[in-house]
Amino acid sequence: MEQIVDVKNIGLRGVKVADTRISDVNGEKGILIYRGYNAIDLARRSTFEEVSFLLLHDHLPARPELEQFHADLISERPVPGVILEFMKMMPASAHPMDILQASVAILANYDLQLHDESREANFKKATRLIAKLPVVVAAWDRIRKGLEPIPPQEDLSHAGNFLYMLTGAAPDPETARDFDVCLILHAEHSFNASTFAGREVASTHAHLYASAAAAVAALSGELHGGANSEVMKALLEVKEEEAVKAWVGEKLRKGGKVMGMGHAVYHTEDPRATVLRGMCERLANRCGEPHWCRLSKAIEQATKEEFRKLKGKEIYPNVDFFSAPVYHMMGISRDLFTPVFALSRIAGWAAHIIEEKFAEAQPKPELYRPDSDYVGTYCGPAACEYVPVEGRSS
Ligand SMILES: CC(C)(COP(=O)(O)OP(=O)(O)OC[C@H]1O[C@@H](n2cnc3c(N)ncnc32)[C@H](O)[C@@H]1OP(=O)(O)O)[C@@H](O)C(=O)NCCC(=O)NCCS
Repeated sequence: MEQIVDVKNIGLRGVKVADTRISDVNGEKGILIYRGYNAIDLARRSTFEEVSFLLLHDHLPARPELEQFHADLISERPVPGVILEFMKMMPASAHPMDILQASVAILANYDLQLHDESREANFKKATRLIAKLPVVVAAWDRIRKGLEPIPPQEDLSHAGNFLYMLTGAAPDPETARDFDVCLILHAEHSFNASTFAGREVASTHAHLYASAAAAVAALSGELHGGANSEVMKALLEVKEEEAVKAWVGEKLRKGGKVMGMGHAVYHTEDPRATVLRGMCERLANRCGEPHWCRLSKAIEQATKEEFRKLKGKEIYPNVDFFSAPVYHMMGISRDLFTPVFALSRIAGWAAHIIEEKFAEAQPKPELYRPDSDYVGTYCGPAACEYVPVEGRSS
């Protein structure tokens, strides 16, 4: 007899649903581990390409492996023409996350290994998605603005090439490196909503593209990846430091949320936010544009103070808070912030989807099938009696 565990209506908070070898979040100490390595150390010393390899293959690549992975990522960048044709038919108002989700589904049909469910083929598909997502996001940004997409440039890094494809100008090395660090910091975060969505779909034996498209969809909401764009919206709304206290006070007193603050797992500062705050300050100095970073820090402080007063608790910024002013200063449009999150997180999603498919951290693959209690009506002891429409009173 199956044992029923009653953990309903709490959004699965604190409920362990699987084992994973991919990452660990210590919410009390504020430590994030990717495959045994501290993510902050990786952000300092590694590259997104190397971290993607680590997440997928469970070890840091030896030089020949890294060179091969780089070469594969570069050769897999171009997207089928049909992706660009489809984009040209879409209304310019279409949200980049919807375009991204649809593009992932379209890409599936141009992958000759789509139905090859070997581990090797899944790694290849993962590499293709990591390589192509930046091209898709940048192409849509150009097409919706009535501009021609810019083809990827082979001699640029994954991070540098994305920024290049947005504008046609290669970024300066510091900006490219900062963006690379952003990609590393967003690459993986254990069983968050989008990763769980991707794993759940993979548990049905759906292919990697279908699982990844589900993860993109889950990321789009403002309580998850959509928060970074909402942070920027708030910064644009608040405008001036003088307005911060009143804005935050009113928002919290009315039960609203200050986006980018708070976290379901971290009860201390999100270590990624610490790195991004520093990056924000350095970038502000470099661009000679201190406003957005100062405004963000003022909102952070005011939210902490007001939250303490109202709820008697601490609240801290999460990864989305300082990524907003950082991306803004890099010249990235506000509604691309969440797609940028996706083009980094695809590395973690793919690792999780493969782990789920091949039961790499559990004895055997299991279809996710949670339970629920029906709290609707029966109109009687068994079920409501069906009355044809003519016999129903309004
Ligand atoms: C991420 C988030 C959903 C985590 O939530 P959680 O840890 O499960 O905490 P809860 O939603 O249960 O919130 C606990 C309390 O803090 C409040 N709170 C949490 N985050 C808040 C925020 N950003 N602004 C205002 N209040 C917040 C909640 O309203 C709740 O108040 P209550 O106890 O009076 O009902 C939440 O912090 C949030 O909505 N943040 C803003 C969105 C965001 O930045 N998302 C990206 C996450 S990486």
